[in-house]
Amino acid sequence: MVITWSTLCPSRIAYVRYGTGFLSEVVKGHSTEFIDGGEQKRKIYIHRVFLTELIEETKYYYKCFNEENESKQYSFTTLKNGSDWSPRIAVIGDLGLHNAKSAPLLMKLVSENKFDILFHNGDFGYDLDWENGKVGDAFLRFIEPIAARVPYMTSPGNHEEKYNFSNYDNRFTMIDEKTRCKNNHFHSFNIGPAHIISFSTEFYFFTNYGSQQIATQYEWLKNDLMEANLPENREKRPWVITFGHRPMYCSGDRDECHEKRNIVREGIRRGSKQKRVYGLEELFYENKVDIAFWAHQHSSERSWPVYNNTVYNGSTDTPYINPKAPVHIISGNAGNNENLSEFDDFQPKWSAKRILDFGFVQMTVLSKKEILIQQVSATTENVIDEFRIMKNIEQNSGAVF
Ligand SMILES: [Fe+2]
Repeated sequence: MVITWSTLCPSRIAYVRYGTGFLSEVVKGHSTEFIDGGEQKRKIYIHRVFLTELIEETKYYYKCFNEENESKQYSFTTLKNGSDWSPRIAVIGDLGLHNAKSAPLLMKLVSENKFDILFHNGDFGYDLDWENGKVGDAFLRFIEPIAARVPYMTSPGNHEEKYNFSNYDNRFTMIDEKTRCKNNHFHSFNIGPAHIISFSTEFYFFTNYGSQQIATQYEWLKNDLMEANLPENREKRPWVITFGHRPMYCSGDRDECHEKRNIVREGIRRGSKQKRVYGLEELFYENKVDIAFWAHQHSSERSWPVYNNTVYNGSTDTPYINPKAPVHIISGNAGNNENLSEFDDFQPKWSAKRILDFGFVQMTVLSKKEILIQQVSATTENVIDEFRIMKNIEQNSGAVF
């Protein structure tokens, strides 16, 4: 577990005091000075403490402190080890500091211990760098009731782009489970029977920071997926789930949903023949990714199993049983000052359900064979859509249309 916090006062020392009852243990971390790229060149101090000696399924209490100041007391419960349990995951996208419609319900559910972990796939605060980084400070303070209690896992969105994603890079700490290295742009980890991959769609769009990062990430994704697909790994963790920001498939009325060639799906043009390379759809399909979460569209949309614009349902009657391609889910409706975005009148064949309401996804990885996905409305606080993806179930052959 990594505890990350920031202070405005210069501080070079970071500690966390923690324990299961008394706060009997102390761990020293490290601190870095972060200078925001805005005209004030405002400085804040980022502190990170790694807690490595934790026991699974145990509630810990903790406080952060430095030379002069001490935080209030927080708590978290460590995740269970191994693959034989059922993680409960919240998936949110595009959550702003203002008009954060889903936040009260998310905070309530987290305080009631309804989630083990949260994925936020891009667009934070609107924007972290605004007002010389003060919006970033306020947003991190705002999500503290969530992020201090459950792992707050991230991938970057377009709103994080300013100054080469520096506010995003400094304010979060994503650790790749295999390499143990920090990488807020792409990393993977295991939870219960699922292998989770977070990656950046933004590398494909902000090539002003270089295009080599597209290739670097692609190679990493390829290797990570190859390892996840080793028979012994896939047997232990049959579910492979990704989360990134800009969708491969969407039917919103914004321009990006109307482009014939989706750059994340099909890749960038390279060489004298302008061949498309580093497209992710082929990679995800070949490596049997089960679910791809997206955001960016301020709405909720789920697909049928789809590849190359073609629906690959498990069967006509039971599309999500033994699906033959990834299922795409857009969860970009957490709420922000840009409000909801409209859908096109035309609903494509691959699109199974579209909802225009604030909310988020709650996903329960029930077993190695079954996942429950529910769309929760922040307006009514009810589940307004749900479906189950099942795999390795004996059935007749699939349906393609
Ligand atoms: Fe976005």
